[in-house]
Amino acid sequence: MFWKKRFSFDKIPDLSGKVVIVTGGNTGIGFVTARELARKNAHVFVASRTSERGERAVELIKKETNKDAVEFLQLDLKSLNSVKLAAETFLARKLPLHILVNNAGIMATPFEKTSDGIQDQFGVNHLGHFLFTLLLLPTIKASDSARIVNVSSMAHERAPPAGIEFEKLNDPNALNSFQRYYQSKLANVLFTLELNKRLSGTNVYCNSLHPGIIKTELTRGVVADWGSWIKPFVYISTFFMITADDGALTQLYCATSPEIEEKNFRGKYFVPYGEVSEPIAQGKDEELAKKLWDFSENLIKEKLGDDVFSKSYA
Ligand SMILES: NC(=O)c1ccc[n+]([C@@H]2O[C@H](COP(=O)([O-])OP(=O)(O)OC[C@H]3O[C@@H](n4cnc5c(N)ncnc54)[C@H](OP(=O)(O)O)[C@@H]3O)[C@@H](O)[C@H]2O)c1
Repeated sequence: MFWKKRFSFDKIPDLSGKVVIVTGGNTGIGFVTARELARKNAHVFVASRTSERGERAVELIKKETNKDAVEFLQLDLKSLNSVKLAAETFLARKLPLHILVNNAGIMATPFEKTSDGIQDQFGVNHLGHFLFTLLLLPTIKASDSARIVNVSSMAHERAPPAGIEFEKLNDPNALNSFQRYYQSKLANVLFTLELNKRLSGTNVYCNSLHPGIIKTELTRGVVADWGSWIKPFVYISTFFMITADDGALTQLYCATSPEIEEKNFRGKYFVPYGEVSEPIAQGKDEELAKKLWDFSENLIKEKLGDDVFSKSYA
């Protein structure tokens, strides 16, 4: 749309020797991100919930880039056990992990609970990524200069006044489907804030971003919630959206641009195309960020047992 194109695929440096995971790398901006990182010689894991869509993306990326180091990693963020298994599967390979792009997401889906009984947009967009990241964190920290990129949205600006309605998370009548999305995207910003604090003194650069308004499959949830009468309106709105290639640029910037380290960008919030911006006040609320961290940690321990994080972080 009207954003200045200050980053482009050709500015991605050579990534030989770098290992990358892109969640939701099978379609949309995740696919473009995985493809462009592979093109620059990274070893890329497409972390995806279905093997059919994941493997298809892997084959397509290999074909389009002529690179072979692209693999599928089974990850269903709607199940904490699947997230744990995905992390363990990756860790068993004994590879470093230089770039983690927490990109997968759902938007405005009808109220549902994850297999752990957690409201699904919070569960998929925030909690699954929280667990995945923490389980991978020792490896990320041990990898020579690393990046964690949390894909949020400007939609976080419309989160409820409390920011995160902890007590009402599982109340189907508390928020509508879009409000649940806004809340989950604020959680992405808050997770970045607190994680960055805990990464102080390390070589890990963690940032969040809004990628733009992009023509992808994200509107699937809206159609599922509102019904197919909304399809023509969704279709018309696509004329005002940017392409997935452009939509991937801001996360590619956060994941690869040397500027991140040169300018010591940590815990920042970016907008297209790689411009530093500010989240709303709730996104800078350190107390709320800590509360979300503790809440998420306790919820996961309740579901998976107290020792789930035993090997993951100090
Ligand atoms: N599009 C926009 O305008 C826009 C604007 C702001 C922010 N964003 C953010 O950008 C990110 C990418 O969205 P997109 O626009 O590229 O949407 P998309 O085309 O719908 O892609 C979403 C990806 O997330 C994956 N995913 C969904 N549920 C999952 C689960 N339970 N476990 C693992 N993966 C799961 C999807 O896998 P399947 O293909 O198997 O469903 C897909 O790969 C999201 O975090 C979104 O919030 C997008």
